[in-house]
Amino acid sequence: MGVSRRGVLAAGLAALALPGCGSEAVTEAPDRKVEVFSWWAGPGEKEGLEALVADFARHNAGIGFDNAAVAGGAGTIARSVLTTRLQNDDPPDSYQIHAGRELADDIRRGYVEDLRELYTEQSWLDKLPDGLVQAITVDGAIYCVPVNIHRSNLLWYNPKILAGLDLTPPSTWADFLTQADTIARRGLTPLSIGPAWTQKHLLENVLLGQLGAQTYAELWTGGADWEGPAVLAALRMFTEVLARTDAATPAGDWQPALDKVVDGGAAYNCMGDWADAYLRTRGLVFTEGYGVVASPGTDRVYNFLSDSFTLPKGAPHPGAARKWLVECGSVSGQDAFNPRKGSVPARTDTDRSKYTGYLAAAVAEWADEGTRVVGSLTHGVVADAAWSTAIDAALAAFVQDKDAARFARAVVAGRR
Ligand code: GAL
Repeated sequence: MGVSRRGVLAAGLAALALPGCGSEAVTEAPDRKVEVFSWWAGPGEKEGLEALVADFARHNAGIGFDNAAVAGGAGTIARSVLTTRLQNDDPPDSYQIHAGRELADDIRRGYVEDLRELYTEQSWLDKLPDGLVQAITVDGAIYCVPVNIHRSNLLWYNPKILAGLDLTPPSTWADFLTQADTIARRGLTPLSIGPAWTQKHLLENVLLGQLGAQTYAELWTGGADWEGPAVLAALRMFTEVLARTDAATPAGDWQPALDKVVDGGAAYNCMGDWADAYLRTRGLVFTEGYGVVASPGTDRVYNFLSDSFTLPKGAPHPGAARKWLVECGSVSGQDAFNPRKGSVPARTDTDRSKYTGYLAAAVAEWADEGTRVVGSLTHGVVADAAWSTAIDAALAAFVQDKDAARFARAVVAGRR
């Protein structure tokens, strides 16, 4: 992508303003609005965005916020809308993207501006964890501003339902399979599931739980053997787990899949900690209306992802977009957003007292040096778009044919 259509137009108009013709110097009007693209339109997500926008408005009177959010969990629908806009040279002023390989794709395509100057001006570099900075840096340039850290590997439940079943959350997937018989005999779904991306989300966390953090991380860096016995056994475990879900009648998105757990139709749901925000919007109280543990086999491991915002090349309102990014990277912005979003701040110097309930433990665990950090597949950290899309296609076949060896071959072939 080269110069944008708007860029050409602006250059053309500038050329018409001949020097000396006007009586006054031409000054650029400040941007009056900022169009921000995300997928935070649904319950539990829009509340976080609204809190961030309210804080932005407090600091930026006179700049309107144009909310271009496209609904749908994990951004699968939003991402295809965004791709069309970027390909048609019609970028928003800022768009949401995950830190990691997903971002690297957009850097390679030339969609996003380098933000190093903003990082220097705002002194952000020493306020973010080193690993996160590495995930957003390419060849010394930094292309987005992370607003949070989410955890993917969590298992949600309703404490009253579990007590009624005389169960405590499983610590391995093998334990889960044992419990599943009891749960199914009582007429409940052992694990609720939603659209295809939630199956991928489950897959990554079964792989993590069965293989451990080291081998899981090596799946994405080339160090682990996808076609070897350990991975094949973990993939077979995934098919066993999936067989205990309601995949035949899946929920429409992640929120209704969680509804089944808290309303009593299902015992468990494997989902990221945006679930915490959603369940609170339903008026539920942590440890009473809902509980959570690390997904089986992943205690003390943080399968992370980070929501970030960019400055696209050719953004129509780059001045306002920079102000939006400053907001995303600020202490006040992150402390307004994250307590509502169910995530911990990307910055390390925010006000911990604002994080209560589930989030108090999450903030402590994220900061704990003993916590092992790995990156999410489904949420953009470890695989680029081409590989991730190849995995999607292979997974759609795998859930039908249950052929672990064929799936592993397709995953390896899909890597470029
Ligand atoms: C993730 C995103 C989270 C949350 C989730 C469900 O990809 O990073 O912030 O929105 O999808 O939609």
